Amino acid sequence: MDHFLYQNGILHAEDVPLPEIAAEVGTPFYVYSTATFERHYRLFDEALAGMDHLVCYAMKANSNQAVLRLMAGLGAGVDVVSGGEYRRAIAAGFPGERIVFSGVGKTVDEMETALTGGIRQFNVESEPEMERLSQVATRLGRVAPITVRVNPDVDAKTHEKISTGKYDNKFGIPISRAREVYARAAKLPGIDVVGIDVHIGSQLTELAPFEEAYTLVAELTRDLRADGHDIRRLDLGGGLGIPYERSNEAPPLPVEYGAMIKRTVGDLGCEIEIEPGRLIAGNAGLLISDVVYVKEGEGRRFLILDAAMNDLVRPAMYGAHHDIVPVVEAKPGVDQTPYDVVGPVCETGDTFSRGRPLPPLAPGDLVAFRSAGAYGAVMASEYNSRPLIPEVLVHEHQFAVIRPRPSYEEMIKRDNIPPWLEG
Ligand code: LLP
Repeated sequence: MDHFLYQNGILHAEDVPLPEIAAEVGTPFYVYSTATFERHYRLFDEALAGMDHLVCYAMKANSNQAVLRLMAGLGAGVDVVSGGEYRRAIAAGFPGERIVFSGVGKTVDEMETALTGGIRQFNVESEPEMERLSQVATRLGRVAPITVRVNPDVDAKTHEKISTGKYDNKFGIPISRAREVYARAAKLPGIDVVGIDVHIGSQLTELAPFEEAYTLVAELTRDLRADGHDIRRLDLGGGLGIPYERSNEAPPLPVEYGAMIKRTVGDLGCEIEIEPGRLIAGNAGLLISDVVYVKEGEGRRFLILDAAMNDLVRPAMYGAHHDIVPVVEAKPGVDQTPYDVVGPVCETGDTFSRGRPLPPLAPGDLVAFRSAGAYGAVMASEYNSRPLIPEVLVHEHQFAVIRPRPSYEEMIKRDNIPPWLEG
């Protein structure tokens, strides 16, 4: 459920009619609902009730400072994967003890930043990384709390580009080698082994792969404890999917996911962390775009929008589906016709959907892409010199621009002319 509903035939974000925002900020733009973010965070928090737990929002899904401030205020932790994300977390008010640092390629610089600024734990993904972290922590006179991310060799049954839990993938340490890696970790100075981490992929639409992975993690917890390690925390990653195609998708709910977590690892007495990104942010955002032209091709009708693949890359990159709806609701009984929904960027990849049934649309009509709050704005680029589009946050009847659209001058001025080309 989200808070983007038609009221008197006009699509609203909470209590704000979307045409009102479009008139003020221009199109295209992203719009987010505060109530939806809050609701999704609480669903996870409640799903883990009864267990010592922390929901660490994976900010890679949507890292706008306003969104982070909102999550920090709810009591969430946060999962970061770069020095930039770490700084965003601190700037938004997350205390170090609620920041988890993931990622396969943490640099010395990033380790120093987190060790001096405060960190809950590093999720270490390789032995070389573990050795380096030990050196950096020792040099700084600190102790780095770590989990080791294990790769359980489980097929997440999702898109290949966002599957991370098979031995073929670059992530984690093969679970088959976990005991020897933990033995090494226990001997390293400056390292405190606190638990185990696992994350098998994103947009999972079934519980079975999670269950398989978490069962292996439970077994590993027992083995490592038998080896003498004080395993007290399990980071179970993110990945729970959302219904992108509402008419025929119903992925498991957070409450079902929470029950499965209790079933698989609930009896170990560990503190549980999860790192959801998409489920918190995805359906909390829309991309609003304007129809520029309707073009009749040979046997095809193209709906040319002012939003493009540089603004929302998921369809071009993963063949992803986003529901597209008119902002002014179609009259009941109006026939839908198939449109190829495209942007103005100069490549055929700039296609949001082919043959999408939509009510008749004309230049100047607004359309909304649903489920665009996660991996939308954060993956945008200025390809074709199209400035990044604004982000707007709605709260009941209020809205605010939380990232303005840069001017063309600002965009161009970021480039420098070298001295030998001046004059
Ligand atoms: N934790 C780790 C270590 C991750 O790598 C990810 C996502 C998450 C948590 C959050 O997963 P979520 O709950 O959002 O599924 N750009 C792609 C998605 C990439 C996901 C990368 N890692 C897309 O647009 O589908």
